Amino acid sequence: MNGTGCLDQHARPLGVLRLSLTARCNLSCSYCQPDGREAKNLLNQAQQLSLINACCSLGCHTLRLTGGEPLLAPGLLPLLRAIQKTRQQKEGPLDQLRDIALTSNGLLLTAQLAQKLRQAGLKRLTISLDGIDPDVLAEISGLRGGTAAGQALLQKVLEALEAAEAAGFDPKQGQLKLNSVIQRGRNDHQLLPLAALARDRGLELRLIEYMDVGQRNGWRTDEVVPAAEMISLLQQRWPLEPLGRPGSGTASQWRYRDSGGDVGVIASITQPFCGDCNRLRITADGIAYTCLFSERGTDLKPWLTPQCSAAALPEAIKALWTNRRDRSSEERQQGMSLKGPRAEMAYLGG
Ligand code: GTP
Ligand code: 5AD
Ligand code: SF4
Repeated sequence: MNGTGCLDQHARPLGVLRLSLTARCNLSCSYCQPDGREAKNLLNQAQQLSLINACCSLGCHTLRLTGGEPLLAPGLLPLLRAIQKTRQQKEGPLDQLRDIALTSNGLLLTAQLAQKLRQAGLKRLTISLDGIDPDVLAEISGLRGGTAAGQALLQKVLEALEAAEAAGFDPKQGQLKLNSVIQRGRNDHQLLPLAALARDRGLELRLIEYMDVGQRNGWRTDEVVPAAEMISLLQQRWPLEPLGRPGSGTASQWRYRDSGGDVGVIASITQPFCGDCNRLRITADGIAYTCLFSERGTDLKPWLTPQCSAAALPEAIKALWTNRRDRSSEERQQGMSLKGPRAEMAYLGG
């Protein structure tokens, strides 16, 4: 099997592997609610590489490293370096891999680490920030220290953004972006200040509808700010033109008409994008989920033992993907309720 790709039951090709490196996080955001527990059987680097190789042989062109908070994983840099080494091989297993990205809260991103990540082949970085008001930030991020803690968090994230840019992650080329989950009554009044901050720094802001992932966040419909409302709020301040949603992308893109850059909305609740979903998620302990809202995953560890033949793992992933028929967000929109219980965000990696 080399680079032929595979299609699921809705003819969707596998394109992106979202590999989680840890379920732990150094924040406790209200919308995610990590429980601080790590899985017992974390994958080692050889197993991670086998998974990445197998997914690339099936058509994956993008690897996104996630968590929890992936910068907490001691294996992050060594993994990137090992991938880089493999990519240097001519006609190697990672020939298909075009893009390596990481989603982080930025807290641990020093200038030195940003440089090392860049040198190790990381191409894109998305950093989360859900407000610029210290009290709002402290509350939403689960920090106990009130205003001072929120201020310190804001400072660190701003420094992380600067460190990333200094290391060569160029926002103009989409290599550095900002994610904000917007919740009504919690941080919706932060939307315009966040947009102003992103515009000032030339960053693309991704405004994310609050999703009902997992069971712990106590999600309620009335806390969702629909993407159309977010765009309307932005429009009143800075006129926008629509660019549409790139194929298999999560975000619908808009451009500020005053040359202020681009902004995206991720409208999983009100405008689901399951039709061309090309993402496979694998947790830090090797459980594969084809959908963010899957009831259960598939443990790939049996195919990651030394006893198992090299061909067996891609076959297992191919079988999983070709049987895939989930389109949970679209089903929800059509009035079907999600089946529970579902895995948590910090475990799945988004
Ligand atoms: P790009 O590659 O830069 O477009 O990033 P991304 O949006 O795919 O990844 P990121 O980790 O920044 O995720 C942004 C938001 O999109 C998070 O809230 C994710 O949970 C959500 N998201 C990512 N993939 C999916 C998906 O397949 N379905 C749904 N419903 N949400 C997703
Ligand atoms: N709804 C929407 N986005 C979420 N994220 C975490 N939990 C949720 C949720 N319930 C986002 C984080 C991060 C990305 C991985 O997922 O803010 O940007
Ligand atoms: Fe993909 Fe499931 Fe998200 Fe739909 S809800 S876009 S199928 S992960």
